[in-house]
Amino acid sequence: MTNIDDGETSRGLETPKNPAVDDPSNTPSQAVDWDAEAAAFDDEPDHGLRDPVVREAWAARLRDWLPSRARDVLDLGCGTGSLSLLATEQGHRVTGVDTSPAMVALARAKLAGRPAVFLVGDAAAPPVGEERFDVVLVRHLLWTLPDPGRVLRHWCGLLRPGGRLVLVEGVWGTVSPVGIPAERLYELVAPLVSDAVVHPLGDDTRLWGRKVEDERYAVLARL
Ligand SMILES: C[S@@+](CC[C@H](N)C(=O)[O-])C[C@H]1O[C@@H](n2cnc3c(N)ncnc32)[C@H](O)[C@@H]1O
Repeated sequence: MTNIDDGETSRGLETPKNPAVDDPSNTPSQAVDWDAEAAAFDDEPDHGLRDPVVREAWAARLRDWLPSRARDVLDLGCGTGSLSLLATEQGHRVTGVDTSPAMVALARAKLAGRPAVFLVGDAAAPPVGEERFDVVLVRHLLWTLPDPGRVLRHWCGLLRPGGRLVLVEGVWGTVSPVGIPAERLYELVAPLVSDAVVHPLGDDTRLWGRKVEDERYAVLARL
């Protein structure tokens, strides 16, 4: 399967430079057949969160990053809904959006009976109409989108006053790294918000189920 968390990137995401950042016309995510990836997606420790240690590590991060009271969370590029599930377990209401119908089907099954809806759509322009959210949560997607600066401005417009962005990203691989460096993402986000903080995540092996060498981080930003 395609897995950006391998020590080196796999074939589906291989690229000689960092296209999402360097050339907004490139869209590496579109080169991946996410419907085909869906069935095995949760096999990776940080995707399926099946290991209780990994699961609790992400749950603890979300407890820190999300509001303490029940709020409306928009999970963009939600995949199989693993972070959405943690958010509902912490009392939040979730709207998930993903371009892959197979991912959305798995997310709907995973969160059946919970306060969550999942929509097939483009995270760059989520099909949420006039609805607004307290949190836009995005893990491992922004770096693949064309023109991330424009997308971030759109996401800020989906937030209620005082809302927050929770962006979990990284740079994967060493030979042909792909992703968006924390410094670059911070530069894009900071002018749009009142407060932005980078949280390095690479040293916390519990999050990944193993030691990782590449750059992993979250940017937390408040309007
Ligand atoms: C690396 S996976 C991350 C899934 C999830 N955020 C997680 O962390 O477990 C990327 C996901 O983004 C979805 N995706 C790719 N491009 C998208 C787009 N333009 N809009 C919405 N979802 C997209 C894929 O279908 C896939 O489910």
